[in-house]
Amino acid sequence: MDCCRYDTCPRWIGCVLVALPLLGFGGACAGSSVQRSTDSDTKVASQDDPSVRCTFESPLTPDVLGSPGKPIVSAINPNGDSELAWVMREMLTDLKQAKEAVEQKAALPRELVHPNRMRCSWPTDPGTRTVVFDVMAQGYVSQWEYLKTVPTTSHTDRVNAYNGVVTSCVGCHTQFCQGPIPMIESLKIGQ
Ligand code: HEC
Repeated sequence: MDCCRYDTCPRWIGCVLVALPLLGFGGACAGSSVQRSTDSDTKVASQDDPSVRCTFESPLTPDVLGSPGKPIVSAINPNGDSELAWVMREMLTDLKQAKEAVEQKAALPRELVHPNRMRCSWPTDPGTRTVVFDVMAQGYVSQWEYLKTVPTTSHTDRVNAYNGVVTSCVGCHTQFCQGPIPMIESLKIGQ
């Protein structure tokens, strides 16, 4: 599966931010400084974004960046990424920021990609958006929602809730995209 490009591509190892002025797209990779696009084309979620409420049944928006025939091209991946692959990388960035916050007993960072967005993003492989995928996506969303409710003063509970988020990433990846699992697992917080 295409997601396993991850296995062969060194872009996660200190790869740098790529800005594509033409697309107004800022891609961020692990280890790089985080900069995200606010360009409406990339549909970075705000609370008003319809992706916050979308479901499995929601039709995908044609012609957005990352849809079939409109890959998100970057120097890191000249072949172009699907919308879902891009969302996943943003989720990875969010997860790393959450890890840091939990470890430091600090407030969670503001979410830039809503966890629900994966339910209505164009995948690389059109067969990905199944009921199984959607159930797992909802599991991920609720785990993330739960983490947000745990006060910073309840450190152990918070660590458990954070690790639950990581587990729900891994659970879905076991079904759909095994390549990144060791990297995702490594983001658990030891107790
Ligand atoms: C509901 C299922 C599901 C959940 C939950 C999920 N993923 Fe994914 N992930 C996928 C699928 C499917 C792909 C392949 C996307 C594509 O190529 O369109 C993917 C791709 C990726 C990629 C590779 C992106 C690329 O560059 O091609 C990374 C990294 C990743 N996910 C990290 C995460 C992290 C971190 C989490 C949790 C914070 C997570 N995923 C949660 C299903 C999931």
